[in-house]
Amino acid sequence: MTEPTPSSSPAPSAPAARTSILVVNGPNLNLLGTREPEKYGTATLGDIERLCAGAADAHGLECDFVQSNHEGALVDAIHGARDSAIGIVINAAAYTHTSVALRDAISAVSLPAVEVHITNVHAREPFRHHSYLSDVCRAVIAGAGTLGYRFAIEYLAELTRERAL
Ligand code: DQA
Repeated sequence: MTEPTPSSSPAPSAPAARTSILVVNGPNLNLLGTREPEKYGTATLGDIERLCAGAADAHGLECDFVQSNHEGALVDAIHGARDSAIGIVINAAAYTHTSVALRDAISAVSLPAVEVHITNVHAREPFRHHSYLSDVCRAVIAGAGTLGYRFAIEYLAELTRERAL
């Protein structure tokens, strides 16, 4: 029997635990607060970011935020999360109903994603009833107002906790 030869190189260190959630907001959501407040309420995007950061912090997590009115910038942000995030919260806004590129980006990074809509899109115009994202997301939250973002973060935190057990 030969003894295993001790290696002179140090044991590879475990990869650092991921702690961030990417929160993606699509076109026109930069105008929240003044945009159609009867539908979207009066909370601003800044308010939503603070709400998300607080919800994540309660679980020892943090959020990276991106809002863009440009589809490619959102695709790039999703790619950027591939090796660092535990998951994605995405309100793709109007791109929800049009974007194969965002759908493919979510599939490509293999991270759990939660689709969020402030309004209940199913109670609105028929063109808002179809989402290119829903079936590549783990969960869909629509119509809970800005609280939907908090629910999405809670869900991703719980998913991560279960995976670590
Ligand atoms: C929205 C719903 C979309 O249909 C719309 O285009 C938006 C916002 C929502 O949060 O309710 O811009 O995603």
